[in-house]
Amino acid sequence: MKFFLDTANIEDIKKYASWGVISGVTTNPTLIAKEDVSLEKRIKEIAEVVDGPISAEVIATDLEGMLEEGRKYAKWHKNIYVKVPATPEGLQAVKIFKKEGIHTNLTLVFSAGQALLAAKAGADLISPFIGRLDDVCEDGMALIAEIAQIFQNYNIKSELLVASIRHPRHVIEAAMIGADIATIPAEVIDKMIKHPLTDKGIEKFLEDWEKVANK
Ligand code: G3P
Repeated sequence: MKFFLDTANIEDIKKYASWGVISGVTTNPTLIAKEDVSLEKRIKEIAEVVDGPISAEVIATDLEGMLEEGRKYAKWHKNIYVKVPATPEGLQAVKIFKKEGIHTNLTLVFSAGQALLAAKAGADLISPFIGRLDDVCEDGMALIAEIAQIFQNYNIKSELLVASIRHPRHVIEAAMIGADIATIPAEVIDKMIKHPLTDKGIEKFLEDWEKVANK
């Protein structure tokens, strides 16, 4: 399972890239807005740090607008994946981008039907938002299991990218199911490495070492 970082914060991207655990980055308009920077500037900065897929989302909701923005983003760097929403116009855009050799990430996916259509249109990445489903009392992980099963049944090549991750269990359960990618917020990665028994173990080793250090 590949880990992407779900942020537009360049310091976080540098930090977790230095851990050797990040294969790509996903951004969205909300994450860019938090950074108070232009999308182009930030995407180019990210591309200098991470050598893997970088998702940049279109703002337009009409086909022509999506195509114009996506073609512009694709010129910024070879690793750009144009993120388009799971709408009829989004599917049309995916099909056209595919012909033009532009990679895509179909975002705001909330059903297996949307995921199947995205795969048929030729999306490279398909992003179900599990946390937002959990937020409205649905089962986000059940959707991941459903899509994973369907993709396996038909040997579908699109990659299943689990998005809207809220905590480490989301990552572990998605990995158990066999999802291709998890895009993870920085604070969830911090929680994944942290364990009280690790801290306690280090403390005890240091304490014991002190007893013999000067012998
Ligand atoms: O990158 C999109 C997705 O991960 C958003 O997550 O927490 O805003 O539901 P969230």
